[in-house]
Amino acid sequence: MIIAVDGPLAAGKGTISKALAEFYGLPHMDTGKLYRGVAYRLLSTGLSPQDAETAAKVARSLSMDGIEDADLRTAQVGAAASVVAANQAVRQALFDLQRNFALQAGGAVLDGRDIGTVVCPEADVKLYVSASPEERARRRQTELEALGEVISFEAMLAQTLERDARDSGRADAPLRPAEDSHLLDTTGLSIEAAVDKARLIVEQVRLAKS
Ligand code: CDP
Repeated sequence: MIIAVDGPLAAGKGTISKALAEFYGLPHMDTGKLYRGVAYRLLSTGLSPQDAETAAKVARSLSMDGIEDADLRTAQVGAAASVVAANQAVRQALFDLQRNFALQAGGAVLDGRDIGTVVCPEADVKLYVSASPEERARRRQTELEALGEVISFEAMLAQTLERDARDSGRADAPLRPAEDSHLLDTTGLSIEAAVDKARLIVEQVRLAKS
């Protein structure tokens, strides 16, 4: 079974997909890490995420060796990731990695922006996870704070809206729900409630297909 989980920044994709992967015993790929990895390699060597040719070169030879999760989770890397993600050559370079992961025997759970629309349009279950921009900004603010990065709510909300606009407005693989995706709004839901709803959707789809 292939499960695609897409949605905007801090909607709950990561938590939900990890929980689904564990529940169904499937491997999980956080595809945002790849874009963040490209952004991190560029920033840490003083190169600009806007430099399209260099970004594509980095994506083509991407190795995540030596990169810690904490290196990838900063707001600066997140913003730069969304810049490199609008670069078609970068997306193309990262496509096979994601596609091969999705097609492994037994299936997989992948979360990102374009899994249900581009990477794996034939996924068995597609979830589109969303939440209000205010709630997403609050969640990301808390997450960054736990990692030692202090950012005001206003600044976080502005970054959230800016990233939404860039991810939804790009020409190549823009963020949007696949036509056959199941919408899951996690505004006001606890982690447990959101995961329960996601599992219910997957079970309903499985039942309908069997
Ligand atoms: O964790 P968060 O929701 O902030 O973002 P992420 O999943 O780590 O992804 C970081 C950035 O990578 C996003 O803003 C997108 O621009 C890009 N991305 C993408 O374009 N396609 C994907 N499948 C995954 C991420």
